[in-house]
Amino acid sequence: ERLAIGVDIGGTKVAAGLVDESGRIVQRARRDTPHRSTKPHVVEDVIVDVVEELVGLASSPPVAVGIGAAGFVSSDRATVVFAPHLSWRHEPLRDALTQRVDLPVFVDNDANAACWAEHRFGAAQGESHVVMVTLGTGIGGAVLVDGQIQRGRFGIAGEFGHMQVVPDGHRCECGNRGCWEQYASGNALVREARSLVVAGSPLGADLAALVDGDPLRLTGPMITEAAQAGDPTAAELLAEIGTWLGTGLANLANAFDPGAFVIGGGVSAAGPMLLSPARDSFRRHLSGRGYRPEARIAHATLGNEAGLVGAADLAREGSDA
Ligand code: BGC
Ligand code: NA
Ligand code: ZN
Repeated sequence: ERLAIGVDIGGTKVAAGLVDESGRIVQRARRDTPHRSTKPHVVEDVIVDVVEELVGLASSPPVAVGIGAAGFVSSDRATVVFAPHLSWRHEPLRDALTQRVDLPVFVDNDANAACWAEHRFGAAQGESHVVMVTLGTGIGGAVLVDGQIQRGRFGIAGEFGHMQVVPDGHRCECGNRGCWEQYASGNALVREARSLVVAGSPLGADLAALVDGDPLRLTGPMITEAAQAGDPTAAELLAEIGTWLGTGLANLANAFDPGAFVIGGGVSAAGPMLLSPARDSFRRHLSGRGYRPEARIAHATLGNEAGLVGAADLAREGSDA
C-alpha cells in the first residue's frame, strides 16, 4: 500500500492527513495557520511538524508529500508565487520542504487539489469537464478538462476569486477592488454579519447575542449554525453569498462549459441554504438559458478534506512519474 501525505494550507487552518490509494484518510493532523504577518518559515515549520507527526503514525513509509496551498503556484509546482491570505511571495516552498522532510514534495494550489480529489473520489467522478469553486477565506477555483487539471502557462489558471465583479467594490487582499471573493467567500459572509452587528440593527440581534455584542468574535461557522437554527438574518446572509456564487458560475459556464460545478470549502457546509439560491441565480444569469444544456451544481462530497486528499493523490502520482 502506497500512502501519501496531503497538507492543505488555508487562510485559517492547516489540515493534513495520511491518504491511501483509494482516497481514504487513515490518519489526520491539524494546526492553525500562522497569521499572515508572520515570516514564511513559520508556516514551513508548521508543515514540517505535521508531516513528522504523520510519518510517525504511518504503517508503511509514505511515498510523497503533497501541499495544497492557498495561493498562486508556479506551473512546475515548486514555488508559491503569491498568496493573498498568507505571507508567501515567490516562496520556493518545494525546495525548502524537500530539504527538511526527506520525501519528494509537490506543491499545488489548494483548489486544484480539491478539484482533483472530487474528480477521483467525490462528486465529480466520471465527469471529464469540471469547474471547482471553494468558498473559504477566499474563493479558490480549478478547471479540469478531459480529466486533467488545467494549470495555465504560469500555473495561475483558475484564480476565479480575483475576477472583478463589482467596479470600485470592496478592497481585496490581492490588491484590487471588487473581486468575486469579496462577495461570495467566508470572509465576505463574516464581513457582512459583522457590519450588521456594528450597525446595531435589530436584524443582527441574534448574531450579536451569540458573541456578547463583540462583532470580531463572529465566525463563518457561527453564522451557518445560526441560519440552520432558524435565524432569518443569518439565512439571508448565506442566500446573498449563494446569489453571488450563482452569478459567477453562470459566467464561468460561458468560459469553460463544464458538465459539473463542484462547490466546496468551509461555507459549503451550509448546504441547500447556499446552493438553492446559487442554483436560482445561476439559471437567471445563464446566457442562452433554455436553449443550452445546463451544468449541474454539486456539493463537494469530500467536504473540507478534499484539498488534502487531492494534494496527497497528486503527489503520489507525481512520484510515480
Ligand atoms: C487565492 C487562491 C486560493 C483561494 C482559496 C484565493 O484568494 O488566490 O489561490 O485557492 O483563495 O484558498
Ligand atoms: Na486554482
Ligand atoms: Zn482579489
